[in-house]
Amino acid sequence: MQGLSCAINSPYSGSLTPIKHYKRERRVKIVGCHFVHYNDGMPNSRPLLDKNLYHSVEHFNLEKERIFYSTWQLAGHRSQLANPGDYVCLHIADQHVFVICGEDHEIRAFYNVCQHRGHELLQGSGNTSKTILCGYHAWAYGTEGQLKSARNTANTEAFNKCDFALEPVRIEQALGFVFVNLDNDANSLQDSAGEMFEDIKKHVPHVDELAVSDKYETEGPDLEANWKILAENCLECYHCAPSHPAFCDFIDMQSYRATAHGAWLRSYGELGKADNKAYPVEPNEPSQKAIYWHLWPNTELIIYPGEAAMTTFRFHPKTEKLTGTSSLMLLKPGESIAQERIDYRWNTLWPEDRAICLSVQKGLQSRGYRGGTLVVNEEQHAVSEHAVAAFQDLYRQWMSISGTVS
Ligand code: FES
Ligand SMILES: [Fe+2]
Repeated sequence: MQGLSCAINSPYSGSLTPIKHYKRERRVKIVGCHFVHYNDGMPNSRPLLDKNLYHSVEHFNLEKERIFYSTWQLAGHRSQLANPGDYVCLHIADQHVFVICGEDHEIRAFYNVCQHRGHELLQGSGNTSKTILCGYHAWAYGTEGQLKSARNTANTEAFNKCDFALEPVRIEQALGFVFVNLDNDANSLQDSAGEMFEDIKKHVPHVDELAVSDKYETEGPDLEANWKILAENCLECYHCAPSHPAFCDFIDMQSYRATAHGAWLRSYGELGKADNKAYPVEPNEPSQKAIYWHLWPNTELIIYPGEAAMTTFRFHPKTEKLTGTSSLMLLKPGESIAQERIDYRWNTLWPEDRAICLSVQKGLQSRGYRGGTLVVNEEQHAVSEHAVAAFQDLYRQWMSISGTVS
């Protein structure tokens, strides 16, 4: 790969502009909300992203730099970080970060790396008490990132513990969700998606009462597909009738709406039949709709018909063809979800989508696939791929692929 400040010749349709120009352009676009809004009128046939962008190592390395190191990534929820020493770890592509509650009860984020010789410090989630102890040579850090002790350094010349504090990472919270961003110059989460959180608050008035339930798994199995295939699959219901028969009995497809709002997109559908092929929902239950809020590039915040709950879904790229998945279930304290609802979401609906994503990954690598088109019909949201087109426009803007945004 060439140096990032150099012009990059792309083997794909459209050329990539130098990254130093890209950053300035991107900021202007976000602050000014100059993203393409499909409601302005979108052609009903749209070129897809080039198929090579879904399995190219070179391109994945650019995505890391241009997208994943500069966007807000969901780390967890404040209910997981209520006590000093509580922590959660996350990967952002090949970068490892943890978020921790300090002894002063402030929540901070750091790169998950010891400043001695680079060993990782924490794994998964849990509580470290007052000390983060490196497993290699036992350097000890405080929960606020300071190096507290380093074995056998008392006589080391010019050794100053202040030089070896953990490297901080930017953090922001919204409605109790904790996000991190590796780019200190990126727009704030509030500037990027403040309206999305207002929209969530409007539809989920009890959101402040929710807390992560540890009964439900947070790490799912990796998926052998490019992360964009998952994102695009989440953003259209054109596939729902052939692929999700129970979902189409569950959600009223006439009410289905997919809308794009700059850095976030939303899919909305009202409960169809109370007695349906997914699971029954009583008319007096708190949620009578499904809403998927998609925060660019790889986070979903979801409500389903039924209980007062939210589900998070983060799909994070590990390689150009491998994507990790993680999910949190947020409930009111003391409440639980009927097993048949968990079974439908994770043992029926998600496997249907997993199978699609795995198949499309193989197809995009086929020498026989020439590249299709998006079917855009804005009058019929449930059978239109306009939100995928909006996602691909975001992608082109962040990657500075010229000549393809309408
Ligand atoms: S790498 Fe952490 S103490 Fe040596
Ligand atoms: Fe689906």
